[in-house]
Amino acid sequence: MDIGIDKIGFYTPHIHVDMKKLAEARKIDPAKYTIGIGQDKMAIAPLTQDAVTMAANAALKILDEEDRNAVDMVLLGTESGVDHSKSGAVWVHHLTDIQSQARAFELKQACYGATAGIQMAMGHITMNPDRKVLVVGSDIAKYGLNTGGEPTQGAGAVALLISANPRILAIDPTSAMYTSDIMDFWRPLYSDKAKVDGKFSNQAYIEFFLRVWKDYQEKTNRSLDDFEALCFHLPYTKMGRKALGAVLESATAENKERLERHYEESIVYNRIVGNVYTGALYLNLLSLLEQGEELPAGSRIGLFSYGSGAVGEFFSGTLQPNYKKQLLTTEHGKMLNDRRELSIEEYEASFEDALPIDGSTRELDGQTDPGPVYLAGIADDIRQYMKK
Ligand code: HMG
Repeated sequence: MDIGIDKIGFYTPHIHVDMKKLAEARKIDPAKYTIGIGQDKMAIAPLTQDAVTMAANAALKILDEEDRNAVDMVLLGTESGVDHSKSGAVWVHHLTDIQSQARAFELKQACYGATAGIQMAMGHITMNPDRKVLVVGSDIAKYGLNTGGEPTQGAGAVALLISANPRILAIDPTSAMYTSDIMDFWRPLYSDKAKVDGKFSNQAYIEFFLRVWKDYQEKTNRSLDDFEALCFHLPYTKMGRKALGAVLESATAENKERLERHYEESIVYNRIVGNVYTGALYLNLLSLLEQGEELPAGSRIGLFSYGSGAVGEFFSGTLQPNYKKQLLTTEHGKMLNDRRELSIEEYEASFEDALPIDGSTRELDGQTDPGPVYLAGIADDIRQYMKK
């Protein structure tokens, strides 16, 4: 029985910053951001969008009545959780009207959370082939104004419906994993901004990729020849380019040409959204599927997931016939095109704006936010989620 991704929904907030203008404001050559880092635009989350609302907005794009009745597990991968105790998945379950006889919980391991959710979903569908699992990766990447990590911020969510007989990507059962306790990137409980050892994090990413890629090849006897494309966790698009380059050094000209061509197609969305942490690998996959040419059914795609701290995993899947028909390419394109550019002054002025943490009430204006689900404010330490 094939199990894998049946539907993919993507949500990113309606405002963004232009990277050239950000570079100018920081007195940096814009080419450092657009070429050196490889980013053109950076999504910004208004206060009315958090990990829960973005996850619900991504999921609402794909769920129909049949799915709402068949989903019995809701898994939210996030490192931008809004509560130490209650999982955001319970709110997502409610806001998307999924039937009640379901499990809902959150998974955390930096950017790896959604991949953990997919692997858990694979096991659940193996045992319950007539059910479906909603897996969402939803995050806000925030490092701080004038920090080295600033050009690698972003915000968004990718929702994946996992089922038997999937219509987009059947996931192969074998994958290669690696865990090692390192401090390349972390966010202490008292901070809303990530701490990072930038250069070390880049090295760790490549090291983990090479390890799991080697292990995967040994386990499966597959090589680059077996892959139509490789997808990467993308904190910024230059990072995946470096990882791809590391395995292309000894590749044939044919493999190099094919994998580099598909890499360009796969980074279109990430270039204009930024790092969405748990959703970043799946945004890379979505971009390949929606912005690339239609690939033959059975084409194998490799996926490298990396969550700082750190866990890496390489797994793969095969494309299903007519997968393009399952995609929301027009809707996603419209969402991205309709975004409003913030001036650097607007971005900076709103950067530290936050909900009160003393139990007082703050109401937010949902009319300024086109998202169907939004945060209407906070009262008595309880977030007020609304659906239009
Ligand atoms: P930096 O020190 O500002 O940048 O930090 P740099 O000096 O290393 O320059 C970056 C690149 O721009 C270099 O290219 C420069 O040569 C080039 P490279 O050597 O890397 O190929 N450059 C230029 N190119 C063209 N024209 C110019 C120019 N000037 C310089 N004029 C860094 C960059 C990414 C480290 C920083 O932004 C950062 O710390 N970001 C956050 C950490 C991060 O994203 N790490 C990635 C791996 S870890 C990961 O992926 C996990 C993560 O998603 C978190 C999670 O798991 O939850 C982050």
